[in-house]
Amino acid sequence: MIDLKNIYIETYGCQMNFSDSEIVVSILENDSYKYTSDINSAGVILINTCSIRDKAEQRIWKRINQLKSLKKKNTNLIIGVIGCMAERLKNELLKTDVVDLVAGPDAYRDMPALIEKAKKNQKASNVVLSEIETYDEIKPNYFQTNGVSAFISIMRGCQNFCTYCVVPYTRGKERSRSPESIINEAKNLFEKGYREVTLLGQNVNSYKWDSNNEKVNFAKLLESVALISPLLRVRFTTSHPKDISDELIYTIAKYKNICNYIHLPMQSGSTKILKLMNRRYTREWYMDRIKAIKRIIPDCSISTDVISGFCSETEEDHQDTLSLMQWVGYDFAYMFKYSERSGTYAAKKLKDDVPEDVKGRRLNEIIALQQKLSYESNLKDVGKTFEVLIEGVSKRSGKQFSGRNQQNKVVVFDKEDAKIGQYVNVKITDCTSATLIGKILNK
Ligand code: 5AD
Ligand code: SF4
Repeated sequence: MIDLKNIYIETYGCQMNFSDSEIVVSILENDSYKYTSDINSAGVILINTCSIRDKAEQRIWKRINQLKSLKKKNTNLIIGVIGCMAERLKNELLKTDVVDLVAGPDAYRDMPALIEKAKKNQKASNVVLSEIETYDEIKPNYFQTNGVSAFISIMRGCQNFCTYCVVPYTRGKERSRSPESIINEAKNLFEKGYREVTLLGQNVNSYKWDSNNEKVNFAKLLESVALISPLLRVRFTTSHPKDISDELIYTIAKYKNICNYIHLPMQSGSTKILKLMNRRYTREWYMDRIKAIKRIIPDCSISTDVISGFCSETEEDHQDTLSLMQWVGYDFAYMFKYSERSGTYAAKKLKDDVPEDVKGRRLNEIIALQQKLSYESNLKDVGKTFEVLIEGVSKRSGKQFSGRNQQNKVVVFDKEDAKIGQYVNVKITDCTSATLIGKILNK
C-alpha cells in the first residue's frame, strides 16, 4: 500500500552521502514523514547522488529513467534528486518528466517545504550553498547501519581545490561542526549499543573549532571521542597528506580504541602530476608522512586513492605511481581513471590528453599491483591474532560472522556462540587478497 508520507531514499557515492541521507530522513521524520525500506510503499522517493566521476552520474541517470515506470503507476509519487548531482545539474534534472524536486547538500532543512511545493505540481528546487550549515543539532536516523558502527559527519565542504575535483563546487566551503555536538552524538550512539564511529570529513586534518573560550583541532577532537569509552572504536576519513600532523599520529598511537588505520590518498606518485593536481605536496613529502606513520604506529594499515591518466601523465609518471605504491605497500586502495568534470580547473585549463585505452591499461596495472600488495599484506597476518568487532553475518555463509580488525581488514570466522556487537579475539588461519579467515580464540 502506498502511503504518501512514506519516504524511501537511495544513496550513491561516498560515506558522506550515506551520513547525509540519515540527516535528510531525520529532518523529514521531524516533520510528518516516515522512513520506509520498501520503494513500492513510498509517496516520496529520494536519490542522493554523486558527481565525482562521469560514470557515477551515468549510473544515476539510468536509475532516474527506471523510476519513470513507478511514476506512471502512481501519479502522486514525488521523485527528488538530492546531493552533488542536484547541485551541479539542477536544470537538466528538473527538465525531465521524472524529477519533481532538487535539493543540494546544504538545503536539506528545506526538504519538507520543497516536497509540499512539489505536491502542488510545481517543480521545486533549492541548491543554495551555505558557509555555516553543519546540521549540528540534527540527530540522524541511522537507518542504514548494522547497529554496531555508524558515521558521524564532523565537517562539510572542501576548499582544497584539487584541480580534478568537483567537490568544492558541489559541497561548498569547508566548515566544522561543534565538538560538543559531535561528542554528544558519539556518546548517544555508544549508549544505544554502537561500538564503532567513523568521523567523516573531506579533509579531517583541517577540522577546526574556534569559539570564544575553546580551540579544538582534529587531534583534540579525536581524543575526546576516544575518551567516551575504551569499548568504542574510533575511525576517521579522509586525511589529506599535506596536513596530517605528527600530533595526530601520536594521538592515534596513544589510544588503543583509535583504530590503527589511515586512509591517505596519494592520487599520483609523480611530483609533476601532484603539482598539476594542486595537491600541495611532493612525492618526498608523502613518503616522509608514511615514514612517520610507520615509525609511530608500526602496525598501522594504510590505504589510498589513485587516479590513472590525469592530464599530461607520461609513462614515467605512471611508473612513479606504481613504484610509490610498491614502496608504501598499501593494504588497500580505491583506484580510478581520470574523469574530466566541467567547471574544475583541469577542465578549463588542462588538456585531458591521455587516450582512454592508455588510461585503462594504466589503471589495470595499478589494480594488478594493488591486488598483489593486498594479498602480501594479508599473508603477513596469517598466524596473528586480532581483536575483531563483530558486525554481522558473513555474506558467504550464514554459519559465519564477519567483522573488522583495527586495521580495517574484513575478518570472517565461525560464529561459535558469539554475538553481533561483541569484541572477539580471532586467530587468522588463511586469507584471500580481500579477506582474512580465522577462528575465535576466546570471548
Ligand atoms: N576523476 C577520477 N577520480 C576522481 N576522484 C576525485 N575526482 C576525480 C576525477 N575527476 C577520486 C580521488 C578522490 C576520490 C574520492 O575520488 O581519488 O580521492
Ligand atoms: Fe561524495 Fe564527492 Fe561524490 Fe559528492 S561528489 S557524493 S562529495 S564523493
